[in-house]
Amino acid sequence: MDARVKRTGGLIWPEEGVTSAVPYGVFTEQAVYDEEQARIFRGPTWNFIGLAAELPNAGDFKATFVGDTPVVMTRGDDGAIQAWVNRCAHRGALVCRELRGNNAAGTYTCVYHQWSFDARGDLVGVPFRKGLGGKGGYPADFDMKQHGLRKLRLENYHGAVFVTFDDAMPGFQDYIGADGAVDYHLQRILKDRDLEVLGHTRQYIPSNWKFYAENTKDPYHASLLHLFHMTFGLYRSSQVGGVNITNGWHTVLFSRSGTDSDAAITETRDSKLRTYQADSYTLADPSLLNGRKGEWGDDVTLVIMSLMPNLVIQQIQNTLAVRQIVPKGRDAFELVWTYFGYKTDDEELRNIRLKQANLIGPAGLISMEDGESSVICQQAVIRDQNTWSCIEMGGRDVKDADHLVTETTIRAFWDEYRQLMGY
Ligand code: FES
Ligand SMILES: [Fe+2]
Repeated sequence: MDARVKRTGGLIWPEEGVTSAVPYGVFTEQAVYDEEQARIFRGPTWNFIGLAAELPNAGDFKATFVGDTPVVMTRGDDGAIQAWVNRCAHRGALVCRELRGNNAAGTYTCVYHQWSFDARGDLVGVPFRKGLGGKGGYPADFDMKQHGLRKLRLENYHGAVFVTFDDAMPGFQDYIGADGAVDYHLQRILKDRDLEVLGHTRQYIPSNWKFYAENTKDPYHASLLHLFHMTFGLYRSSQVGGVNITNGWHTVLFSRSGTDSDAAITETRDSKLRTYQADSYTLADPSLLNGRKGEWGDDVTLVIMSLMPNLVIQQIQNTLAVRQIVPKGRDAFELVWTYFGYKTDDEELRNIRLKQANLIGPAGLISMEDGESSVICQQAVIRDQNTWSCIEMGGRDVKDADHLVTETTIRAFWDEYRQLMGY
């Protein structure tokens, strides 16, 4: 491969269009991280900030982030959801300092000098505006309308809320591709559903956010890293499944448990993989695996959707969750999980979802290892900025696959990433 030297961080990249290798410095360089904030998170992308169901009532609010920029999502008196940058228009303080809550008064007041804003982010109150005792105060031409919070363009897609800093880019539907696999799977889970939030977990992972982006686009690892998946058959590379790519870097991995052939099971056993230990492990309470089959009218038992830059939506058996990726510097990110079901769920189904929630999250029987795999990558790539990774499973190209032994979806990520970053 011919190499290309690019300025950012002094990194040497494979020639343009080659997506089967990246220099490890992309995970470690501060200059790369800073450029990502401008070109990706505050660039032409739609960023997930929450579920509308997290704000069921007028006055509800939630503080979150787009990239590392603090933002707040609110539901106003009129029921409309809006979002603004959580930075006071006066001298820059955080306006909202709580994670979530209900603001019955309807105004958000900065603690520093008590400028106050409504749920839309408009400035509605300024103390000492005309001064005190005829002294001080703002100039006569001070216009409250010019000092609102930075409002973000927002779209509510079947209950999932996305914002962008880019007022000129196409709408969310265009961003994910109309009628593509991503849209199909999103609608399968969200469309015409009244979502019910079941709870949250948050975990802080000392790794660059892109190691996790790679992980969630990686069907190859799941049989080889996750003992629970392999041993109990929730997911195996030998199952019927595949990967789809839409609009550059949005991807879907899906599989159907129980579809492994006898020959594939025998081959798996004979290969003596660490992760297949059906003879050594049994579950004390096997009811964990007793989901409700056919809930979505098909036999798909696992869907991992990765909507760049910051969202993973997951169905594993009957458990549903969104995972929001929040970068916290070049070598850390926070992963915010929101578990959900549907308001129409009967009690048995709700209990199935809650029990299967044990599979995922920070200490999940399946997903615990994903955080750890990101960490051990981050620890190992230090000082090897211009050594390249190898992303060649399933070939070197970017295309859909009707199997799960591929890294094509990771190559799709790097392809779009390089274009957005100008690498
Ligand atoms: S910084 Fe917010 S009121 Fe002064
Ligand atoms: Fe995993």
